[in-house]
Amino acid sequence: MKRDRVTATELRARDERLMARCIELARQGEGHTAPNPLVGCVITDPDGDVVAEGYHRRLGGLHAEAEALAAVGGKAPGCTAYVNLEPCNHRKNRRTSPCAPALAEAGIARLVIGMGDPIRSHAGGARWLARHGVEVSRNVLRDQCADLNRAFVTWAKLGRPLVVLKAGITLDGKIATQTGQSQWITGPAARRDAHRLRHCHQAIMVGIGTVLADDPRLTVRGVRGGRDPVRIVVDSRLRTPPRALVLPQNSTSRARVIIATTQRAAAARQRRLEDAGAEVWRAGGGPEVNLTGLLGRLGNDEIISVMVEGGATLHSALLDADLADEIALYMAPFAVGGASLSWVRGRGIDALAEARRFRFDPPRQLGNDLLVVAKTRRIGR
Ligand SMILES: NC(=O)c1ccc[n+]([C@@H]2O[C@H](COP(=O)([O-])OP(=O)(O)OC[C@H]3O[C@@H](n4cnc5c(N)ncnc54)[C@H](OP(=O)(O)O)[C@@H]3O)[C@@H](O)[C@H]2O)c1
Repeated sequence: MKRDRVTATELRARDERLMARCIELARQGEGHTAPNPLVGCVITDPDGDVVAEGYHRRLGGLHAEAEALAAVGGKAPGCTAYVNLEPCNHRKNRRTSPCAPALAEAGIARLVIGMGDPIRSHAGGARWLARHGVEVSRNVLRDQCADLNRAFVTWAKLGRPLVVLKAGITLDGKIATQTGQSQWITGPAARRDAHRLRHCHQAIMVGIGTVLADDPRLTVRGVRGGRDPVRIVVDSRLRTPPRALVLPQNSTSRARVIIATTQRAAAARQRRLEDAGAEVWRAGGGPEVNLTGLLGRLGNDEIISVMVEGGATLHSALLDADLADEIALYMAPFAVGGASLSWVRGRGIDALAEARRFRFDPPRQLGNDLLVVAKTRRIGR
């Protein structure tokens, strides 16, 4: 199907099909590229046939465009390159050489991109290519491309990580029975998937209530090539026991552990936790950890996504402060009723109109359970 013989509708359909392939390729880098974005690239010959593919595999590795150009060899002249994110054209903090000039030098005739680079100082690659004679088409499957890189876009726009609240719940939204039994609400397939989610996020955060109740390790288990995230405990009085399994001295994981606390916490407790291998960060002089300040500092540390695994008090504090971007609930098909704990607590609202609204992704069935994901409408509000 030669380019001059395809209609605009056919070209649009082809562009969308190949951009969907870029997204699929990019996803293979999940959990390995942060703070870089997820990027996939497809190169087609002038007849529209795919001649090369590439994706950004890991931080410090080749960019997707460079990998695809290497695969296409000297046959790039006249070809079309599809990329879900605008090719870079900056030399600042560069880990690999810029992609826009590389595409032009290889002779790429047309560039199709899903979205522009949200970091203003990094954008401009597409405009540069257009000035150098490359035909540029933008915004193909833009919403899907932005959704793929929600963490990167949030971090670029707000300077803080994407915040995802996660819980395993019953049909009536409870995280335990009234006697406190909570293991296990969901089945093995859901629990396996929760480890996949841990791998996809750069950090996991819990409140001190959860550390004291469950003594979690917060590592990734059962995921091939899985990488442990940075582990964060929100603990204003440094009550984390030196024997807690999350601490490096009690764990085989080499992932960082950050205990976020306040100016008021005792220096002796800080020393004990530092001796156990944790970093202690003081966020705010009030009675509780300043969550906005903590997230800002994590953003400065190039952490672009945080999954919060409870408990209800920390979830509620983040929701109340409008700091929750996404909610991931693994829901088991039974109710427990009674006065047992819900996944969210907080001060509550009086009128439905006050509720913060999210939009659902299609639910996924995992064994007998469902994964329900709700996201804020706009990314990086
Ligand atoms: N089913 C599930 O998916 C699931 C997941 C996790 C937990 N859980 C259950 O949830 C329960 C623990 O939840 P929880 O609500 O008691 O505790 P939590 O949310 O884990 O921790 C809350 C504590 O964090 C500290 N904190 C410091 N700064 C804060 C801030 N700005 N906002 C909020 N909290 C702050 C406070 O203690 P300080 O003032 O001492 O710092 C607060 O009491 C356990 O029973 C656990 O088993 C269930």
